[in-house]
Amino acid sequence: MINTQPGNSEIMQTAPLFIQQHVSLTDFNTFGIGATARYFALIQTSLELQALLLEPAFHEIPKLILGDGSNVLFTQQYDGLVIKNAIKGIQITKENEDHVWLKMGAGENWHQFVMYCIQQGYGGIENLSLIPGTIGAAPVQNIGAYGVELGDVFSKLEAMNLNDGTIKTFTREECQFGYRDSIFKNAYKDQYAILSVELCLDKKPQFHVEYGNIKDMLQSMQIQDLSIKAVSDAVIHIRKSKLPDPKELGNAGSFFKNPLISHSHFSELKKNFPHIPSFPNENSDSIKIPAAWLIEQCGWKGKRLGDVGVYEKQALILVNYNANNSNGAALLALAQKIQESVNEKFSVQLTPEVKVC
Ligand code: FAD
Ligand code: EPU
Repeated sequence: MINTQPGNSEIMQTAPLFIQQHVSLTDFNTFGIGATARYFALIQTSLELQALLLEPAFHEIPKLILGDGSNVLFTQQYDGLVIKNAIKGIQITKENEDHVWLKMGAGENWHQFVMYCIQQGYGGIENLSLIPGTIGAAPVQNIGAYGVELGDVFSKLEAMNLNDGTIKTFTREECQFGYRDSIFKNAYKDQYAILSVELCLDKKPQFHVEYGNIKDMLQSMQIQDLSIKAVSDAVIHIRKSKLPDPKELGNAGSFFKNPLISHSHFSELKKNFPHIPSFPNENSDSIKIPAAWLIEQCGWKGKRLGDVGVYEKQALILVNYNANNSNGAALLALAQKIQESVNEKFSVQLTPEVKVC
C-alpha cells in the first residue's frame, strides 16, 4: 500500500515504487518552468508502471506521462501524478538482407538512438538527428524534420492503458499518423503510456536530401560521398544555426504547428500578400503554410515581453529567458496574443504543437 498523505517532497514509500510529493519540474521540461508536481514517480519497467496504475490512491487523479519534457508547457502546478518514463533497452527483433527491426524502451533518448543507428549503418532516421526527447514520445506527435517523419520507418509499438494497466500493440495503421499527429493526440489522448517502439530501418539507405537547404549544406561541407553520417551532420549543422539550445535558452522547439489551409483561402491570401510562402504540396485538399512567416509578418519576431519572448532567429519558437520561475502562464499569454494577431491579419488559426498543462 502506498502512503499518499501530503509531505514535503520526500519519498513516500519504499520498493518497488518511489513516489515523491511536491516535486520541482524545472529540470524535467526544456522551457525550464519551475512548476511542481503533486505526485511524481520515475518508472523503469512496465511492471512498475502497472503497479502504480493499480494503486487505488491514483485511480481518479490526472496523470501525465513525461519523457524529457521538450514539448510541454507547464502553466500552473501539476495537481496530479507525473510519471517520468525511464524504460530503457535497445534490441534487434528481426533482420534480413535489406532491413533491420529494432525495438527500444520508451525512455531511451531519441538523438542518442539516431547516433547509434548511424554508427551501425542503419538508415532512415538520419534526417531526424538532434530532435530532443525520448523514443516513447516520438510517435505521439509523429516527430518530423527535413522531409522525414517517424511514421516512414515505424513498425509497431506497445502501450499500457492508463485506466486498467492492460497492454496493447498498435500497428502503423492503428497509430493514425498525420502531420504532427497520431491517435495519441486524438481518440486516445492521455489514455496510454507508450512502453516500447519498434522501427524498421534500411541496411541499404536511400538518402533524403531534397528538403530545404540540406544539399547546400552538404556542398558547403565539401561532402563528396553521400552517407547517412553526412546527411546527419548536415542536418545537425542547419539545426544548430537556427534553433536555440534548451540548455542555454528555455524553449520547446516550434510552439505552433504549421497551419493547413484550403486552396481558396490560400488564393485569397495571395491577393493581399503575394509573397506568402507555402510548403510543397503533400495533401491535395489543403496547403501548408509556414507559421513562422505569419508570426514574423505580425511583427513578433525577436519581441520580448518581460521574461518571455519570440526567438530572434526563428519566429515559431517561444523562449523563456529566466529558468526556474513560473513563466508558463506568461508564455501561454504570449502564445494567445500571437494567435490573435495572426487570426486578425490572415484569418488563420494557429494550433499549439506543445502540450499545455
Ligand atoms: P515530452 O515533452 O515529455 O512529452 C510530449 C507529449 O508526449 C506529452 O503529451 C506527453 O504526455 C507525451 N508522452 C511522452 N512520452 C510518452 C509515452 N511514453 N507514452 C505516452 N505519451 C507520452 N519535434 C519534431 O517533431 N521535430 C523537430 O524538428 C523538433 N525540434 C525540436 C527542437 C527543440 C530545440 C525542441 C526543444 C523540441 C523540438 N521538437 C521537435 C519537439 C520535441 O522534441 C518532440 O515533440 C519530442 O518527441 C518530445 O519528446 P519528449 O520525450 O521530450 O516528450
Ligand atoms: N520563416 C519565416 N521567419 C522565420 C523562420 C521561418 O518567415 O523566422 C519561414 C520561411 O519562409 C521558411 C519557412 O518559414 O522557409 C520554414 O521555416 P523552417 O525551415 O525554419 O521550418 P519551420 O516550418 O519553422 C518545421 C518544423 C520543425 C522542423 C523544421 C525542419 C513544424 C511546426 N516545425 O519548422 O520542427 O525541425 O520544419 O523540418 O512543423 C518542432 O516541431 O518543434 C520543430 C522544430
